[in-house]
Formats: sequence, C-alpha cells, structure tokens
Amino acid sequence: MKTVLITGASSGIGYELAKIYAENGYNLVVVARNGDKLEILKKEIFEEISKNIEVIVIENDLSQENAAERLYNQIKSSNLKINTLVNNAGVGIYGKFSEFDEETMKRNDAMINLNIKAVVELTRLFLADMIKNENGEILNVSSVAAFMPGPLMSTYYASKAFVQSFTEAVREEMRNDIHAKNIKISVLCPGPTATGFEKSSNLEESSLFERMKVMTAKKVAEIGYKEFQKGKATIIPGIFNRIAVFGTRFFSRKLIVRTAGKIQEKKKGS
Ligand SMILES: NC(=O)c1ccc[n+]([C@@H]2O[C@H](COP(=O)([O-])OP(=O)(O)OC[C@H]3O[C@@H](n4cnc5c(N)ncnc54)[C@H](OP(=O)(O)O)[C@@H]3O)[C@@H](O)[C@H]2O)c1
Repeated sequence: MKTVLITGASSGIGYELAKIYAENGYNLVVVARNGDKLEILKKEIFEEISKNIEVIVIENDLSQENAAERLYNQIKSSNLKINTLVNNAGVGIYGKFSEFDEETMKRNDAMINLNIKAVVELTRLFLADMIKNENGEILNVSSVAAFMPGPLMSTYYASKAFVQSFTEAVREEMRNDIHAKNIKISVLCPGPTATGFEKSSNLEESSLFERMKVMTAKKVAEIGYKEFQKGKATIIPGIFNRIAVFGTRFFSRKLIVRTAGKIQEKKKGS
C-alpha cells in the first residue's frame, strides 16, 4: 500500500485531500498543529472509508525552526516510506504592509516559515529519497494569488508566487534527470475556497470572498487529486479561476495590481 504525507490535514483542502487519498487506498501520515482535529479525521476515515487504512497523526507546528527536519526524521525513524508528499499547510495575513506592527511581523515571519521554508525543506528531504527510489510524487499547494501581486495581502501573495516558481523549476529539473522519470511534481492553485483560511487570515474584513466565486474545499481537492494523477503541471480548479489566471497574460502589470487591490479592499463598514 502506498503512503501519502499531507500537511495541514486538520481542515479545509488538506482534510478533503486526506479523505480522497484514503478512498483511493493510501495509508496516511497527517500533520497539523491541532492533534485533536487530526484524531477526528482518523476516526472518520476508519468509520466511513476503511478500517484497513493506517492513519498516523503527527502534531507539528511547521512554522517553527527546524520543524520540517524534525518531521522528516520522525518519519524516517518509524521506517515509513512516503510515496506522495502534499505540502498543503499554509496561512495568510490580511492588512496594509506599512501598518504591520511587531505582533503582525511575528505572524508574518511564521507565515514565511510555513508557506515557504517548510515547503522547500520538506521538498528537499523527501525528493532526495524519491530520487534514490526512482519513484515518488510531490504536490505543492500554491494559489491563484501566485500569478499577481496582492495589495493588502502583499507577503501572502508573494509567498505563493515563490511556491509556484519553485515548484515549476524543480519539476523542470526533474524532467531532465534520468533518475526522476517516475517522479511527478505539480502545483495546485486554488482560488477563493470556503475553508478556515478566510478567518485565520483575517480575510473577513476583505471583500475578496464577496467579489469572487468561492469553491468548496471538497471540489478543489477532487479536481486537485484527479489532475495530479494525470501529471498536470499547474492545476487551477474552477473555470473562473482559470480565466482570472489566463487574463493576467493580456493586461499590464499596473492594471492587474490595481484590480487585485480593488478586489481585496476592506468591506464597507470594516
Ligand atoms: N481557502 C482559500 O481561499 C485558499 C485559496 C488559495 C490557496 N489556498 C491554500 O490552500 C492551503 C490550505 O488552506 P485551506 O484553505 O484549506 O485553509 P485551512 O482550512 O485554514 O487549512 C490550513 C491547514 O494548515 C494547517 N496549519 C496552519 N498553520 C500551521 C502550522 N504552523 N503548522 C502546521 N500546520 C499548520 C492548519 O491546521 P492547524 O491549525 O491544526 O495547524 C490546517 O490544517 C494553504 O496553503 C492556502 O494558502 C487557500
């Protein structure tokens, strides 16, 4: 049986992906800070999907120094072989960058550690094993935000642009590597999705979720899983999101950043 490691599986897109992988017969290693929520997911998988699936719960705050390495070492010491890595855990921060106080900057550093550093480190560690085994899969979760600058969420959009660029580049390196013929690397770019993200990023103040079409986490995960199986490089769920990304090719950067800023504006009365 194959094993998938999913970060950020306690809610939203990661939680739905975990269920889909379980339905497809994978054993799971699920990671997040909230161990209780992961235990509930484990119970649901046993009760609703199959008792034969092994679900290993690991509580880990991936924004902490060396957290990714600790996670990798924990997995290695349990002699687990990870066939598929899904770097899904991520958070955002809403607000004007010039008004970030010390407290917000601490959250911003944690966001960069989680959205960028942990993704890079986990990719490096698990990819090395996959190259040795000449087999494996990595799905990094980016965002439609990767394709444009995001006023009022400047550092979050930039973090997703990093994940996008990094994943595309590593995929291309693997295309030219004789030991990587059976290694699949893709990036999933959801648009606005109904998850815990809106609240955890303070996006309730933003009009983004009012102005854009919002998808369910289940739908995003279903499309993400299906297109990843096909080996698609960049997976953008939903026609509106695909049009938005495609449209960025035809308009000036100035217009794109202004439009993104307008969409992110505070709701009236916030
Ligand atoms: N929702 C959207 O509109 C949207 C759009 C585009 C892209 N995305 C991306 O989709 C991914 C999943 O987000 P989501 O929308 O499903 O949001 P979500 O429901 O808030 O899920 C985020 C997951 O990440 C985990 N997480 C957060 N901080 C963590 C940390 N420090 N260490 C380990 N795990 C942590 C959370 O678990 P704990 O709190 O238990 O740690 C949770 O399981 C993110 O990368 C996000 O950037 C979301």
